[in-house]
Amino acid sequence: MRILVIYATVEGQTREIAGHIERYLKDNQNEAVMIDATHPPESLSIDGIDGVICAGPVHVGTFPAPLRRYVQQHSRELMSRPGVFVSVSLTAAGDEAGEWEELNEITANFSEETGWWPVSVHHAAGALKYTEYDFFRKWMLKRIADKHDAPTDTKHDYEFTDWGALDMFIDGFLKDALAVAGKL
Ligand SMILES: Cc1cc2nc3c(=O)[nH]c(=O)nc-3n(C[C@H](O)[C@H](O)[C@H](O)COP(=O)(O)O)c2cc1C
Repeated sequence: MRILVIYATVEGQTREIAGHIERYLKDNQNEAVMIDATHPPESLSIDGIDGVICAGPVHVGTFPAPLRRYVQQHSRELMSRPGVFVSVSLTAAGDEAGEWEELNEITANFSEETGWWPVSVHHAAGALKYTEYDFFRKWMLKRIADKHDAPTDTKHDYEFTDWGALDMFIDGFLKDALAVAGKL
């Protein structure tokens, strides 16, 4: 299977997640075509692509503009293949029902805006990289973390991503994409 992985990051965690997906795909005899939506190639060829994985982080209630722009520009090609979305957020680290409702709205808004509707969405918990934030971000993230009962000690960084759950999600997608491609 040849899988297109489109991602964007602001603080680096979604790049790590995209890198993990790339390794996982390759370790399981698949090919990965990586696109960083912030520095995309001039053209996109969907020929030979069996499926699409898009990954992006939630920042202040939305996904990064370069990712939204890129997916919107190519929504027709992308919709011609089975696709899934990996949404990265701090909310996904918690179990507050209201916050999850908001998260589902945020991902639905992404699809409304871009015209790209994935067959499923995986909510991956992201990271708090306090030691890398400037003063404003540190202050803002401390407030967000407090709201989510996440750690607020800004002397340390925290990673919440469940790599095993991500692998299971990718496995399920590969099976679905194989079936759609008639390779099962
Ligand atoms: C400025 C800023 C705003 C954020 N806003 C939200 C938010 O609205 N909701 C949420 O669940 N997480 C929010 N987060 C948490 C990020 O989604 C999380 O840190 C993620 O790992 C960032 O991914 P990235 O490193 O790929 O940018 C925010 C993080 C930052 C730095």
